[in-house]
Amino acid sequence: MRVFLSPPMMNGDDERRLVGEAFDSNYIAPCGPMVDLFEREAAERFGFRQTLATVSGTTALELLARALEIRPGDKIIVSDLTFIGSVAAFVSLGAEPVFVDSDPATWCMDPNLLAEALKRYPQAKAVIATDLYGQSCDIDALAACCDAYGTKLIVDAAESVGATYRGRPSGRGAWAAIYSFNGNKIITTGGGGMLLSDDEAMMALCRKLASQAREPFPWYEHERVGTYGRLGNIPAAIGVGQLRHLEDALRDKAAVWDAWQTRFASRPWIHPMPTADYGVPNRWLTTVTLEGVDPFKVVEALVAKGIEARPLWKPMRLQPVFRACDAVCSGVDEALFQSGLCLPSGRNLAPETMDEIVQLLDSIACQ
Ligand SMILES: Cc1ncc(COP(=O)(O)O)c(C=O)c1O
Repeated sequence: MRVFLSPPMMNGDDERRLVGEAFDSNYIAPCGPMVDLFEREAAERFGFRQTLATVSGTTALELLARALEIRPGDKIIVSDLTFIGSVAAFVSLGAEPVFVDSDPATWCMDPNLLAEALKRYPQAKAVIATDLYGQSCDIDALAACCDAYGTKLIVDAAESVGATYRGRPSGRGAWAAIYSFNGNKIITTGGGGMLLSDDEAMMALCRKLASQAREPFPWYEHERVGTYGRLGNIPAAIGVGQLRHLEDALRDKAAVWDAWQTRFASRPWIHPMPTADYGVPNRWLTTVTLEGVDPFKVVEALVAKGIEARPLWKPMRLQPVFRACDAVCSGVDEALFQSGLCLPSGRNLAPETMDEIVQLLDSIACQ
């Protein structure tokens, strides 16, 4: 059977029952009681004043880009080591990204390099910092840099749902945060996302923009252009069930991380992603760097056996599409990409599969 990096996991019959309730209500629609419940319970669980369930994490970012009225030529400052979804929506509206390298101690945006980037581009419209592989970025340090220039800090917390930073849920302390509930995330709605913020005026605007910017008239009246972005009632029902079991998911992911660590202990050439002392990661993916072993070879060998594994994110500034963009670099991201590996991290990953994977790693290390 194929082993996935991070497959979805339902919790007994809970999600099925909630989807059944959604069917019974006949809200097979882009609104309904499950959407309201999901947003309310997420606001309570994550401590934000406002939440907006969206069709994806990318859409949540698109709504922010539209709310900020991003125009061609606007600069935005973005984590270099991330998934392209962090930046795609902003670039589609004409923004020019400037990429910032990572702190080797966290693999997230380096606050000292952000300070340099802001000095170079004080007019930047926003900073988008990614929480990488379930670990929060150093929000307070990044926010202090942004505050000095009056720049909005957005945390792309797509990968860190359930993690904490100084005791606060991930993204809390930024102007806005986005979560992803894509099928491979720690909790899922199949595909989906969320925008979270305490800025009530901005959230009201994003709610309107997510419904094609329809004004409150009996007919369709539009003063500006929005998009379609609301999560439907059926996936929201799955989200309610998943969210109610987030603590179970966190416990299972931590157990998988620990099980990997016992296997790494006797292999000093495998270095796990460092854990920052300011928070508790959600352990979405177990990621490592390898010393003296080619991670691309490992990925190829694992995939040939039906085991999904991946290199780390390829830094954005190395992507052909961003060739012309400026960056503030230290070389950390490039080194991570050349040596890093994402290992299967499913909640029910079998110990025998982990053993098989480390044996394969050993055999490549000996070549
Ligand atoms: C860092 C990061 N940002 C943004 C996204 C986009 O989220 P979605 O797939 O829900 O659009 C993802 C994951 O998919 C991600 O890992």
